[in-house]
Amino acid sequence: TKNATVRKTLISWFRENGRDLPWRRTRDPWRILVSEVMLQQIQVARAIPFYERFTERFPTVDALATAPLAEAIRAWGDLGRYRRVVNLHRTARIVVEEHEGRIPADPEVLVTLPGIGPYTAGAVACFAFERDVPFFDTNMHRVLHRVYFGPEVPEPAAKRKELLALAAGLVPVGDGWAWNQAVMEFGALHCTARRPRCEECPVSGHCSAHPGMPGALAAAPRAP
Ligand code: ADE
Repeated sequence: TKNATVRKTLISWFRENGRDLPWRRTRDPWRILVSEVMLQQIQVARAIPFYERFTERFPTVDALATAPLAEAIRAWGDLGRYRRVVNLHRTARIVVEEHEGRIPADPEVLVTLPGIGPYTAGAVACFAFERDVPFFDTNMHRVLHRVYFGPEVPEPAAKRKELLALAAGLVPVGDGWAWNQAVMEFGALHCTARRPRCEECPVSGHCSAHPGMPGALAAAPRAP
Protein backbone atom coordinates (compact mmCIF):
# COMPACT_ATOMS: atom_id res chain seq x y z
CA THR A 1 0.00 0.00 0.00
CA LYS A 2 0.97 3.64 -0.39
CA ASN A 3 1.35 4.19 3.35
CA ALA A 4 3.63 1.20 3.82
CA THR A 5 5.82 2.17 0.88
CA VAL A 6 6.06 5.81 1.89
CA ARG A 7 6.99 4.81 5.44
CA LYS A 8 9.62 2.32 4.40
CA THR A 9 11.12 4.62 1.77
CA LEU A 10 11.39 7.70 3.98
CA ILE A 11 12.79 5.75 6.92
CA SER A 12 15.51 4.22 4.72
CA TRP A 13 16.17 7.62 3.20
CA PHE A 14 16.62 8.95 6.73
CA ARG A 15 19.00 6.15 7.73
CA GLU A 16 21.22 7.07 4.79
CA ASN A 17 20.85 10.84 4.72
CA GLY A 18 19.83 11.95 8.20
CA ARG A 19 22.28 14.24 9.95
CA ASP A 20 24.09 13.16 13.06
CA LEU A 21 22.72 15.76 15.48
CA PRO A 22 23.41 15.91 19.23
CA TRP A 23 19.74 15.53 20.22
CA ARG A 24 19.38 12.47 17.99
CA ARG A 25 22.00 10.62 20.02
CA THR A 26 20.10 10.89 23.26
CA ARG A 27 16.72 9.88 24.67
CA ASP A 28 17.17 12.08 27.72
CA PRO A 29 13.81 13.89 27.97
CA TRP A 30 15.44 17.01 29.39
CA ARG A 31 17.88 17.33 26.50
CA ILE A 32 15.17 16.56 23.96
CA LEU A 33 12.94 19.22 25.49
CA VAL A 34 15.71 21.83 25.43
CA SER A 35 16.49 21.01 21.79
CA GLU A 36 12.87 21.24 20.68
CA VAL A 37 12.33 24.54 22.47
CA MET A 38 15.48 25.99 20.89
CA LEU A 39 14.91 24.63 17.41
CA GLN A 40 11.57 26.21 16.67
CA GLN A 41 12.26 28.56 13.79
CA ILE A 42 15.95 28.50 14.48
CA GLN A 43 18.39 26.88 12.09
CA VAL A 44 19.94 23.64 13.25
CA ALA A 45 23.50 24.87 12.64
CA ARG A 46 22.87 28.02 14.65
CA ALA A 47 21.21 26.17 17.51
CA ILE A 48 23.90 23.50 18.09
CA PRO A 49 26.45 25.60 20.05
CA PHE A 50 23.68 27.14 22.16
CA TYR A 51 22.25 23.72 22.87
CA GLU A 52 25.66 22.36 23.89
CA ARG A 53 26.35 25.28 26.16
CA PHE A 54 22.94 25.39 27.78
CA THR A 55 22.81 21.64 28.50
CA GLU A 56 26.34 21.76 29.87
CA ARG A 57 25.36 24.52 32.28
CA PHE A 58 22.00 22.85 33.08
CA PRO A 59 22.45 19.11 32.53
CA THR A 60 19.20 18.21 34.31
CA VAL A 61 15.75 19.63 34.79
CA ASP A 62 16.64 19.97 38.45
CA ALA A 63 19.67 22.11 37.68
CA LEU A 64 17.52 24.62 35.83
CA ALA A 65 14.68 24.52 38.37
CA THR A 66 17.03 25.44 41.21
CA ALA A 67 18.81 28.21 39.31
CA PRO A 68 17.65 31.82 39.38
CA LEU A 69 15.85 32.94 36.24
CA ALA A 70 18.57 35.50 35.51
CA GLU A 71 21.10 32.71 35.25
CA ALA A 72 18.92 30.73 32.91
CA ILE A 73 18.60 33.76 30.68
CA ARG A 74 22.36 34.33 30.77
CA ALA A 75 23.02 30.71 29.80
CA TRP A 76 20.53 31.00 26.93
CA GLY A 77 22.97 33.53 25.45
CA ASP A 78 22.12 35.75 22.54
CA LEU A 79 19.85 33.25 20.84
CA GLY A 80 17.00 35.71 21.40
CA ARG A 81 13.37 34.72 21.97
CA TYR A 82 13.82 35.01 25.70
CA ARG A 83 10.24 34.12 26.47
CA ARG A 84 11.21 30.57 25.61
CA VAL A 85 13.79 30.33 28.34
CA VAL A 86 11.44 32.01 30.79
CA ASN A 87 8.83 29.36 29.98
CA LEU A 88 11.42 26.59 30.10
CA HIS A 89 12.47 27.75 33.55
CA ARG A 90 8.83 27.75 34.72
CA THR A 91 8.34 24.33 33.20
CA ALA A 92 11.43 23.00 35.00
CA ARG A 93 10.06 24.22 38.32
CA ILE A 94 6.64 22.68 37.68
CA VAL A 95 8.25 19.37 36.71
CA VAL A 96 10.21 19.33 39.95
CA GLU A 97 7.32 20.46 42.13
CA GLU A 98 4.42 18.61 40.55
CA HIS A 99 5.87 15.71 38.55
CA GLU A 100 8.50 14.35 40.92
CA GLY A 101 11.26 15.81 38.79
CA ARG A 102 10.40 13.67 35.81
CA ILE A 103 9.38 15.16 32.50
CA PRO A 104 5.98 13.68 31.60
CA ALA A 105 5.82 11.22 28.69
CA ASP A 106 2.17 11.82 27.86
CA PRO A 107 1.61 14.55 25.24
CA GLU A 108 -1.65 15.54 26.92
CA VAL A 109 0.22 16.26 30.13
CA LEU A 110 3.13 17.89 28.33
CA VAL A 111 0.87 20.48 26.65
CA THR A 112 -0.19 21.77 30.04
CA LEU A 113 3.36 23.00 30.70
CA PRO A 114 4.39 26.59 29.88
CA GLY A 115 5.81 27.02 26.39
CA ILE A 116 4.89 23.50 25.28
CA GLY A 117 2.40 23.35 22.42
CA PRO A 118 1.11 20.32 20.52
CA TYR A 119 4.22 20.07 18.35
CA THR A 120 6.71 20.13 21.24
CA ALA A 121 4.56 17.77 23.30
CA GLY A 122 4.50 15.22 20.47
CA ALA A 123 8.20 15.64 19.75
CA VAL A 124 9.18 15.05 23.38
CA ALA A 125 6.85 12.04 23.73
CA CYS A 126 8.24 10.56 20.52
CA PHE A 127 11.92 11.52 20.49
CA ALA A 128 12.56 11.01 24.22
CA PHE A 129 10.07 8.31 25.20
CA GLU A 130 9.75 6.66 21.80
CA ARG A 131 5.99 6.93 21.90
CA ASP A 132 4.41 6.31 18.51
CA VAL A 133 2.48 9.58 18.43
CA PRO A 134 1.60 11.89 15.54
CA PHE A 135 2.61 15.55 15.52
CA PHE A 136 3.95 17.99 13.00
CA ASP A 137 5.76 21.24 12.50
CA THR A 138 5.75 23.30 9.30
CA ASN A 139 8.25 21.05 7.52
CA MET A 140 6.44 17.86 8.36
CA HIS A 141 3.12 19.41 7.42
CA ARG A 142 4.50 20.35 4.01
CA VAL A 143 5.91 16.89 3.30
CA LEU A 144 2.74 15.06 4.32
CA HIS A 145 0.51 17.50 2.53
CA ARG A 146 2.46 17.22 -0.71
CA VAL A 147 2.63 13.45 -0.68
CA TYR A 148 -1.02 12.91 0.21
CA PHE A 149 -3.01 15.96 -0.86
CA GLY A 150 -1.17 17.76 -3.62
CA PRO A 151 1.25 20.55 -4.44
CA GLU A 152 -0.56 23.53 -3.03
CA VAL A 153 0.21 23.52 0.64
CA PRO A 154 -2.14 25.62 2.79
CA GLU A 155 -1.17 27.25 6.07
CA PRO A 156 -0.66 24.47 8.63
CA ALA A 157 -3.51 25.90 10.73
CA ALA A 158 -6.02 25.61 7.91
CA LYS A 159 -6.38 21.84 7.70
CA ARG A 160 -4.94 20.88 11.03
CA LYS A 161 -7.48 18.19 11.81
CA GLU A 162 -7.16 16.39 8.48
CA LEU A 163 -3.40 16.46 8.63
CA LEU A 164 -3.36 15.19 12.19
CA ALA A 165 -5.66 12.31 11.24
CA LEU A 166 -3.39 11.49 8.31
CA ALA A 167 -0.27 11.72 10.47
CA ALA A 168 -1.89 9.48 13.09
CA GLY A 169 -2.54 6.78 10.50
CA LEU A 170 1.03 6.94 9.27
CA VAL A 171 3.08 6.56 12.45
CA PRO A 172 4.39 2.98 12.35
CA VAL A 173 3.88 1.02 15.55
CA GLY A 174 7.25 0.52 17.21
CA ASP A 175 9.05 2.83 14.79
CA GLY A 176 7.54 6.23 15.46
CA TRP A 177 10.89 7.72 16.43
CA ALA A 178 12.51 6.94 13.07
CA TRP A 179 9.40 7.87 11.11
CA ASN A 180 8.91 11.29 12.67
CA GLN A 181 12.62 12.08 12.44
CA ALA A 182 12.54 10.94 8.83
CA VAL A 183 9.60 13.15 7.83
CA MET A 184 11.17 16.11 9.61
CA GLU A 185 14.59 15.59 8.04
CA PHE A 186 13.12 14.97 4.60
CA GLY A 187 11.33 18.31 4.86
CA ALA A 188 14.48 20.06 6.03
CA LEU A 189 16.86 18.62 3.43
CA HIS A 190 14.95 17.31 0.42
CA CYS A 191 11.29 18.30 0.22
CA THR A 192 12.06 21.94 1.00
CA ALA A 193 9.55 24.76 0.72
CA ARG A 194 11.12 26.57 -2.21
CA ARG A 195 13.17 23.99 -4.00
CA PRO A 196 11.91 20.47 -3.53
CA ARG A 197 14.16 18.04 -5.38
CA CYS A 198 11.33 16.24 -7.16
CA GLU A 199 13.60 14.91 -9.94
CA GLU A 200 15.56 12.80 -7.49
CA CYS A 201 12.86 12.04 -4.97
CA PRO A 202 12.56 8.55 -3.49
CA VAL A 203 8.79 8.87 -3.07
CA SER A 204 7.98 10.65 -6.35
CA GLY A 205 6.07 7.60 -7.58
CA HIS A 206 3.65 8.00 -4.69
CA CYS A 207 3.54 11.76 -4.35
CA SER A 208 0.42 13.78 -5.16
CA ALA A 209 2.57 16.85 -5.75
CA HIS A 210 5.00 15.21 -8.12
CA PRO A 211 4.84 16.63 -11.66
CA GLY A 212 2.99 14.05 -13.73
CA MET A 213 0.65 12.96 -10.98
CA PRO A 214 -2.98 13.79 -11.80
CA GLY A 215 -3.71 17.37 -10.85
CA ALA A 216 -0.13 18.15 -9.89
CA LEU A 217 1.49 19.34 -13.11
CA ALA A 218 0.05 22.82 -13.32
CA ALA A 219 0.93 23.63 -9.75
CA ALA A 220 4.11 21.67 -9.22
CA PRO A 221 6.14 23.22 -6.46
CA ARG A 222 9.03 25.28 -7.76
CA ALA A 223 11.20 28.16 -6.81
CA PRO A 224 9.56 31.55 -7.22
N1 ADE B 1 13.91 20.77 14.49
C1 ADE B 1 13.11 20.49 15.52
N2 ADE B 1 13.35 19.27 16.00
C2 ADE B 1 14.34 18.76 15.27
C3 ADE B 1 15.03 17.54 15.26
N3 ADE B 1 14.75 16.59 16.15
N4 ADE B 1 15.97 17.38 14.33
C4 ADE B 1 16.24 18.34 13.46
N5 ADE B 1 15.65 19.50 13.41
C5 ADE B 1 14.69 19.72 14.30
